Amino acid sequence: MSLTPPKAPTKDAIVAANRDSWNEAAAHHRDHDQYKALLKGFAEPGFSMLDDVMTERLKTIGLEGKTVAQLCCNNGREALSIKNLGAASVTGFDFAEEFLAQGRELAAAGGIEADFVQTEINAIPADYDGRFDLAVVTIGVFGWQPDLAAFFATARRILKPGGRLFVYEGHPILNMYDDRDTGGPPQADESYFRSDPYRSDNGLDYWAQQDYEAKPNYWTFHKMSDVIMGLLRAGFALEDFEEFPHNIGSHAHMENQPHQLPLSYVLVGRKEG
Ligand SMILES: C[S@@+](CC[C@H](N)C(=O)[O-])C[C@H]1O[C@@H](n2cnc3c(N)ncnc32)[C@H](O)[C@@H]1O
Repeated sequence: MSLTPPKAPTKDAIVAANRDSWNEAAAHHRDHDQYKALLKGFAEPGFSMLDDVMTERLKTIGLEGKTVAQLCCNNGREALSIKNLGAASVTGFDFAEEFLAQGRELAAAGGIEADFVQTEINAIPADYDGRFDLAVVTIGVFGWQPDLAAFFATARRILKPGGRLFVYEGHPILNMYDDRDTGGPPQADESYFRSDPYRSDNGLDYWAQQDYEAKPNYWTFHKMSDVIMGLLRAGFALEDFEEFPHNIGSHAHMENQPHQLPLSYVLVGRKEG
């Protein structure tokens, strides 16, 4: 008897599954102290949860008077921080309505003006084309995109000529490692070059690092070269790229190792043409 291997899901099926999985995760995140701290934080004028690296880089690009979009903004905590740092306007796009509702609640806590738009990222309505000076992408976005070329094309589409795409992401080498602290030095258990999407049924409660019985979601491995070449092929000029040893997501246990892996990076592209 020969067994037929399971068929890989289509890109559309991956996106639909991921949307359901993120909506399901929202209630879990809402229950955590981190969310309560954000509600308290944004009630204070000028509150920002951005770290020094992101704050300094954004200040260098300049936020005053800028129209800013955040792609895959989740609960909007970064978009709202960017508004508090001086952006003229912020618009957060995400397909998970349940997280956008939290973004609206955080904005209301501080009377912060922000737009949150529910949409699959590559279906952002044409009304937004050419509207933004800056598009921001932060930790944990690229892996959810089965089609990185489409994602970069979307970022380019919504930017004004000369507008910038700012990326502050987890380093793709982390795809090789479990994000749980198992004690001892990090051990790779995946290939950097894995091509089929990684399926998880453990949920997305990375705030508490707790599994729950969950709808499936799919993570796609994109190499550093896929990201850089994707940016260039989409029609961006590369303005800045730096890798860092610090964690910006769920890999704090991998910091301060004797043979340090890169854990995060900043990439800035300027829309050409
Ligand atoms: C890890 S979260 C980003 C977290 C954010 N950087 C933060 O620190 O709060 C990824 C977000 O991407 C969104 N997302 C993933 N794929 C998407 C898609 N195709 N279209 C729209 N949103 C998407 C999810 O709903 C989720 O809110």
